Amino acid sequence: MRKVAIYPGSFDPFTKGHLNIIERGVRVFGQVVVAVAHNISKKTIFTLEERVDLLNEIFRGREDVKVAYFEGLLVEYAKKMGTNVVLRGMRTVSDFEYELQMALANKTLSPELETVFMVTDSEFSHISSSVIREVVSLGGSAVNMVPEIVEVKLKEKLVQGRRN
Ligand code: PNS
Repeated sequence: MRKVAIYPGSFDPFTKGHLNIIERGVRVFGQVVVAVAHNISKKTIFTLEERVDLLNEIFRGREDVKVAYFEGLLVEYAKKMGTNVVLRGMRTVSDFEYELQMALANKTLSPELETVFMVTDSEFSHISSSVIREVVSLGGSAVNMVPEIVEVKLKEKLVQGRRN
């Protein structure tokens, strides 16, 4: 199949679970646009620019993965990108309610938009951005949960930042 899928999220931080969905999304759709949401009311560890830069570093040289950001409604961004496919990962049943609500809200706003869910591979299903933030801020290692470059940047923010 050759169709661009948008993979939207906060990615604060980007995890190996996200990576799992993107790699599998590429195999199904051909190209995935990783779209970082700019939500000014949400307090994040990394700024929008930092998250975009990290993703650009991770996917540098890849033709099948593009990195972008969006502000406002996802449905409007999808229209602008000329696609009607949004890709989301589902880790456990606790994700379901939130994902269902979002998919239905988007469907109401734009009936032609399809949210396609992939079940995150089981080895990544316990990984969440909030757990990672806690582990790293308490001095633990997140090396199995995030790409190496993300761990380095997280430590700079959460551990070294606190010492200064
Ligand atoms: O990684 P997250 O925080 O679960 O991602 C949520 C995200 C960014 C995909 C969602 O909040 C979103 O689409 N925000 C854009 C605003 C929007 O379109 N809201 C209406 C649908 S809920």
